[in-house]
Amino acid sequence: MFKQSILTLTFILLAANAQQNNNCCEDYCYSTDSERSQTKNYATKTAYDIAKGSDSDSQRSAIVPGCQPVKFWLLARHGTRLPGANDIDNLRRLTNLRDDILENYRTRRTKPSQGALCDEDLELLQNWRWNNNVSVQYESYLTEQGWNDLKFLALHYRGLFPSVLQPIYDRSRFLFRHTNTERTEASYKAFVEGLFGDRAYENIQLPPIPPKDYLLRPYDICPAYQENSKKNKDSSSEYQKFLESPLYKETVSDISVRLGFRYTLQPKQIEAIWDMCRYEQAWHVDQLSPWCSVLTKKQVDVLEYSEDVKNYYKNGYGESLNSKVACHAASDMLKHLSSDSNPIVIAYFTHDAEVQLFLTAIGAKKDFDALRADNFYQMTRRKWHTGQIAPFAANLAAIKYQCDDPREQHKIIFFLNQKPLDFEWCRVGLCNWSEVQRKFEYFNRANCDNDYCSGSFANQLLPSIFLCVILALIVHLRN
Ligand SMILES: *[C@@H]1O[C@H](CO)[C@@H](O)[C@H](O)[C@H]1NC(C)=O
Ligand SMILES: *[C@@H]1O[C@H](CO)[C@@H](O)[C@H](O)[C@H]1NC(C)=O
Repeated sequence: MFKQSILTLTFILLAANAQQNNNCCEDYCYSTDSERSQTKNYATKTAYDIAKGSDSDSQRSAIVPGCQPVKFWLLARHGTRLPGANDIDNLRRLTNLRDDILENYRTRRTKPSQGALCDEDLELLQNWRWNNNVSVQYESYLTEQGWNDLKFLALHYRGLFPSVLQPIYDRSRFLFRHTNTERTEASYKAFVEGLFGDRAYENIQLPPIPPKDYLLRPYDICPAYQENSKKNKDSSSEYQKFLESPLYKETVSDISVRLGFRYTLQPKQIEAIWDMCRYEQAWHVDQLSPWCSVLTKKQVDVLEYSEDVKNYYKNGYGESLNSKVACHAASDMLKHLSSDSNPIVIAYFTHDAEVQLFLTAIGAKKDFDALRADNFYQMTRRKWHTGQIAPFAANLAAIKYQCDDPREQHKIIFFLNQKPLDFEWCRVGLCNWSEVQRKFEYFNRANCDNDYCSGSFANQLLPSIFLCVILALIVHLRN
């Protein structure tokens, strides 16, 4: 009897398994989905237009009764860019993959019986062409959309704070700087064009970029950070464990089955699909990207999580060193907000790692639980969503207000991607300056040159705790 039920169960499982082979996933048709909510979840290649807060919401938050904005500080990632040199060859191979998919569907007849691409999506794929702008010569260059990302960002903030972001450039009031790359330089130009009008950058002199850019690219000159970044390659890392998890493997297998392959696609091929989808969606926000049609919403969530995990350990709370790497930028912000003198406006143009490290430094977007390989489902409502915190043109703006309230004359609002950052020690995004100083006291006192790359807060505490214990022991023994 028992044996028989085991046999029956085995049979059922086998049958289910056999069916699964020609069956992949939920039915989804990207072309006819007018909402396409997954485009918010494209991790650090999310389009800014899709990630940013609504203009009316930020307008409401920016108006503080009894207070006038007096200072502005901005840390912005460059806008949408072209792929880097290392990715171009891999992306170009998508032409072959596309041809294989069409053949699977039309000639080999290996498309799944359930969950296949809809006709519209297949047609999108058929009409896809390699974009000749993607070349080594222009690797990582800012795109037209990327230019507009920053230009409209400037117009947005100018609209919110016209008395601070005045429309005439004055070198004592404004300070700008970018890193030593085309995409951040172009982002800066787009931003000042938004502030002051066409080609305004032609009449602006910038401070020189130091060879060691502690302020905007500290992670490039911090060996401990570089070492730590490599840990994501270790098989014991949460990132690698997630890539090896049944959930991730099933996702890769589902993507392969859905496209009509009888074998599982290589990690490089999945990466190319996912990257091309996200780049194209960010280059042309209002158009469909054929490669996005290849991924269902659930598959996007899994791919997104893998990147969020990777970034959590590389730039976020997963590693204690990370809270100090942006020390110079955090202390620069505090210094700027503390003083009443010029410059009134500071705007820096940098990269996604720096924006993430800065958020980690100030304790923003911190989850109670760590992102791990085994808690994908528990973390669906996590704060550490890189698509929301570090999309293209990601930016953190700190605005200081002068207020009538005699008890708290200064207040601060932090906007992340045009949404007020809601620290629990602030009130709907509005923070008391005294509280900001208390919370970020470390960066007021820190010697960033020494600290930005050396261990953690905890590591510094440990020796002193150890010393205390020894001292206590000595005192105890003497008595
Ligand atoms: C290529 O770049 C040019 C100039 O920036 C732009 O006008 C064009 O739309 C781009 N082509 C594609 C396919 O993105
Ligand atoms: C800010 O300071 C005022 C005056 O001291 C106080 O009443 C208020 O509760 C403080 N707000 C926050 C969010 O701490």
